[in-house]
Amino acid sequence: MRNFLANTIRKFWLLIFQALYYPLAPLYDKISQYGFLGQWVKWQQSVLPRIQGKRVLEIGCGTGSLLKVLLERKYRAFGLDASPAMLGQARKKLKKAGFEGRLVQGKVQHLPFPDNTFETVVSTFPTSYIMSLESLNEIQRVLYPGGRLVVVDTAFLKPYSRASRFLIRVYGWVGVWGESGKNKTQRDRTFYLPLAEAGLVRRDEIYEDDQGEAHIIVATKVW
Ligand SMILES: C[S@@+](CC[C@H](N)C(=O)[O-])C[C@H]1O[C@@H](n2cnc3c(N)ncnc32)[C@H](O)[C@@H]1O
Repeated sequence: MRNFLANTIRKFWLLIFQALYYPLAPLYDKISQYGFLGQWVKWQQSVLPRIQGKRVLEIGCGTGSLLKVLLERKYRAFGLDASPAMLGQARKKLKKAGFEGRLVQGKVQHLPFPDNTFETVVSTFPTSYIMSLESLNEIQRVLYPGGRLVVVDTAFLKPYSRASRFLIRVYGWVGVWGESGKNKTQRDRTFYLPLAEAGLVRRDEIYEDDQGEAHIIVATKVW
């Protein structure tokens, strides 16, 4: 009975995630902000010190929060996402900040950019597209030789407060995070990313503070 309930909640949770990229896109920012006690933005921005060069592509840019910061910091940045609903949210955010023409609707598997266009490609909290060799080959193609892919692939809260301990328990229970509060499933998954097959050399890094920790992959184009 307990297993049945947990499985049902897991399926429901996955459906909510899917819905968040489409009909519920207007709620995405609030849910990621409150659902992770304000840490989401910090985790997204952990890519910033890892960016090289000025030409940056953000794939799966979602509602454009990181893209806005990149543009404010004078990067020549573009954002790509498959979901028109997420891009709609991003468009509003960027327009308000005075940026236009920076968003592209498309799939990572078929990037609408010429070879060797970007010095860095960033991706925060990617869905399963990051696992496919087709996606990684495309990312490698649009990167300059020596360019890098920076992925924040997973993050988790530390038990620093009553609220964080509660969320860790809930997310552990519904399978978003493993029992220990760490997103073991996701981390196991990205352990097998076919980066080498795509000509990218991998380095794993951690962003950590008192409230949480994010796992970052930096992969450099070698040919
Ligand atoms: C978990 S959200 C992450 C959004 C944002 N990067 C963030 O940190 O909040 C994943 C995003 O990837 C987009 N996405 C999923 N599959 C994609 C694909 N094949 N190509 C491009 N974007 C995709 C979704 O529409 C969604 O906006």
